[in-house]
Amino acid sequence: MKYNHFYIVKIAIVLLLSCVSVFAATAETAKEADKAVVEKQEVVLTELEKFYGTELKSEKKVVHPPYEWGDCTVCHTDAKGEGDLIMDPPELCVMCHEAQDTKKFIHGPVAAGACTACHNPHESDNAKLLIASSINELCVSCHQAKDEFLHKTTNIHPPVKDQCTNCHDPHTEDHEFQLKADGKKDLCVMCHVDKEVWTKEVTDKHGALDRPRKCLECHDPHGSENPKFLIKDTNKELCLTCHSEKLVTDETGYKLQDIGKHLDKNPDWHGPILWGDCAACHNPHGSNNLRMLKKPFPRTFYEKFDEDNYICFQCHEKEKIQEEFTKDMTNFRNGEHNMHFVHVNKEKGRSCRACHDFHGTKEYPHHLRKKTKFGKINFPIRFIETENGGSCAPACHARRHYDRVEPKVNLK
Ligand code: HEC
Ligand code: HEC
Ligand code: HEC
Ligand code: HEC
Ligand code: HEC
Ligand code: HEC
Ligand code: HEC
Ligand code: HEC
Ligand code: HEC
Ligand code: HEC
Ligand code: HEC
Repeated sequence: MKYNHFYIVKIAIVLLLSCVSVFAATAETAKEADKAVVEKQEVVLTELEKFYGTELKSEKKVVHPPYEWGDCTVCHTDAKGEGDLIMDPPELCVMCHEAQDTKKFIHGPVAAGACTACHNPHESDNAKLLIASSINELCVSCHQAKDEFLHKTTNIHPPVKDQCTNCHDPHTEDHEFQLKADGKKDLCVMCHVDKEVWTKEVTDKHGALDRPRKCLECHDPHGSENPKFLIKDTNKELCLTCHSEKLVTDETGYKLQDIGKHLDKNPDWHGPILWGDCAACHNPHGSNNLRMLKKPFPRTFYEKFDEDNYICFQCHEKEKIQEEFTKDMTNFRNGEHNMHFVHVNKEKGRSCRACHDFHGTKEYPHHLRKKTKFGKINFPIRFIETENGGSCAPACHARRHYDRVEPKVNLK
């Protein structure tokens, strides 16, 4: 086969020419492209100048980086931001951020995709691009009732006054009300660590903490008009919401006295109860003493006297029991012989409960009880008050008298 040299040359020339033209055409496109980019930049620049002036700086303290980059089309279909968004929040935001609705409980506006109800997508003077100057202002702008609460309530829980997000996540959480931990107890003990230790380690735990609402059985987490953010005016009222029936203790099955009924039937209330303070003696969170008392008290009828074993001395003088002879420390004396000393201050001392009731009484003055429990027997004390003393005839004992002015001699 023979080649036609003319054709070969011709093809070479054509090829060469086409190459040149292609090259020329490429150069032309590149130039046009450059021009387009410059033009586009100019458009953006003009838009940004409108916002920022020539410096391209925001006046605001916080600028959202994609906005600061100046390319509005990251989020808008046109460079002026006049057109639609390329997609609506939350999808728009989730292009760059983690989704905020991934946990079990989702905050209303987040569930509705309303990210911009709280964040300005461009710039803001507030941290996290928030639309309000503080987190609390933001929250109460929608939660009007809480706004009123913050303005009107006298005792507000400090972390609530500080910021709602100390406990609530603004977006989503695994706990009800978007709380950072279970709000009935776990949340509380995150900060009140002592209460966790305290409630777990004491020997006499309080059944109230096993009720469904735990800490919230007694406290309002945001605050209240009452001391210690209690949900009732006084702790007495609070206690009686549960202690107006015979509650059963967990360990022994023992049925506790119905204190509500007892107080109704015995209107001569002991001082602290009169002023509504059961917590003067009991620790509502539990304690290591008998019946959750704040200080020890003898567990049995007879106990060796020890001044540290009596919560009563928080308020009453211990000299009432310590001084064998006294003119004024107690009225329970025969002449100067202190009958409190005689009954209580010894190896086999009687505890105050032998004669007094610490909650309320009716029949006798001085909170003397009508009947006293001795083992399984509940015997009457039959107290009679006289002008300068009194007498009693407990169980089958003979009546015994004491008189501060003319001491009595009682037969053995
Ligand atoms: C991170 C995404 C994002 C970027 C970047 C962004 N925008 Fe926006 N822009 C939004 C969203 C979201 C809205 C709707 C706001 C709303 O719902 O109130 C919006 C609304 C607007 C509006 C309507 C008026 C207003 O403020 O509500 C204008 C104008 C606007 N953007 C301009 C711009 C310009 C100009 C740029 C570039 C400098 C820009 N945006 C960059 C997300 C963005
Ligand atoms: C193109 C990516 C992009 C998009 C889209 C975007 N962001 Fe951002 N955003 C960023 C970057 C980058 C930062 C800075 C780094 C960071 O804090 O994660 C930021 C920071 C933030 C911050 C924290 C600001 C601060 O002060 O720490 C918030 C709040 C925020 N974005 C909200 C939004 C919301 C709401 C949307 C949707 C309307 C959105 N972003 C869409 C990229 C984006
Ligand atoms: C009810 C108001 C509210 C809504 C609605 C809301 N946010 Fe927020 N967001 C906040 C608050 C308040 C913070 C600051 C939290 C803090 O500092 O503890 C925040 C912080 C952020 C941050 C910064 C996180 C960080 O760790 O710095 C991003 C990102 C963010 N939000 C994105 C979004 C997105 C996306 C949406 C929509 C899906 C959204 N937010 C909806 C209130 C809201
Ligand atoms: C843009 C309005 C808006 C803002 C701002 C807002 N919320 Fe909400 N919040 C709602 C809506 C709407 C619901 C859902 C109401 C419902 O389900 O009854 C809700 C529900 C809640 C709930 C659950 C209430 C319930 O009874 O289940 C809590 C808790 C809550 N928000 C706390 C906050 C906190 C804390 C902030 C501030 C970080 C905040 N909210 C800011 C609108 C808002
Ligand atoms: C100390 C933690 C804590 C702080 C701080 C806190 N909350 Fe709460 N919040 C709770 C707990 C716990 C609950 C659940 C109450 C319940 O189960 O009855 C709750 C429930 C709520 C509810 C729904 C029930 C109701 O009371 O209406 C709203 C709304 C709410 N909080 C808003 C707020 C707002 C707004 C702030 C800030 C002003 C705030 N919270 C601060 C702990 C807190
Ligand atoms: C974010 C931390 C935090 C959380 C969570 C928290 N608290 Fe508090 N609480 C405080 C601080 C701080 C004080 C004020 C300082 C103090 O008295 O200990 C306080 C005070 C109190 C007081 C009054 C103390 C006094 O002597 O006047 C009570 C009662 C209380 N909190 C109960 C609760 C309960 C119930 C919960 C759970 C619903 C809870 N707190 C959750 C931080 C917290
Ligand atoms: C049975 C009701 C009751 C329950 C349940 C309860 N409290 Fe209290 N709490 C009170 C009373 C009453 C006071 C006031 C005590 C006083 O005046 O001595 C108080 C006081 C407090 C105080 C402030 C004084 C102190 O003792 O430090 C804190 C903090 C507190 N409680 C936290 C909690 C936490 C956390 C829980 C859940 C683990 C809880 N409480 C459960 C009734 C209760
Ligand atoms: C929410 C219900 C509830 C409230 C409120 C409540 N209690 Fe109780 N309390 C119980 C239950 C249930 C028991 C029985 C289980 C147990 O022994 O702890 C109990 C037991 C007791 C006991 C006996 C503990 C023992 O076993 O030795 C005392 C004392 C007591 N409570 C005092 C109080 C005082 C004081 C208050 C108020 C500050 C109070 N309680 C408020 C539910 C409550
Ligand atoms: C002055 C101190 C004091 C005050 C105030 C006080 N208590 Fe007591 N409480 C005691 C003592 C001491 C005991 C132990 C009684 C005993 O074992 O004989 C006790 C026992 C109890 C018991 C267990 C009764 C039983 O069946 O063994 C309950 C329940 C109780 N108190 C509830 C209350 C309530 C509720 C209030 C407020 C209305 C209150 N206490 C106020 C000192 C007090
Ligand atoms: C928190 C302080 C407080 C504690 C603790 C306390 N009391 Fe009292 N007590 C009072 C006050 C106040 C009065 C005077 C009001 C009245 O008669 O109840 C009083 C009165 C009495 C009276 C009657 C006085 C009279 O002359 O009528 C007796 C009896 C009594 N207390 C016994 C006890 C015993 C027993 C204890 C220990 C279990 C005890 N108290 C613990 C505050 C306390
Ligand atoms: C054997 C019975 C008995 C015992 C035990 C007893 N008391 Fe008394 N107490 C009385 C009598 C009776 C009075 C009334 C005296 C009078 O005014 O005539 C009285 C009066 C009081 C008073 C009124 C003020 C006074 O001293 O006159 C107080 C307070 C008191 N007792 C506290 C206690 C305390 C605390 C204990 C336990 C440490 C205790 N009592 C144990 C019988 C007893």
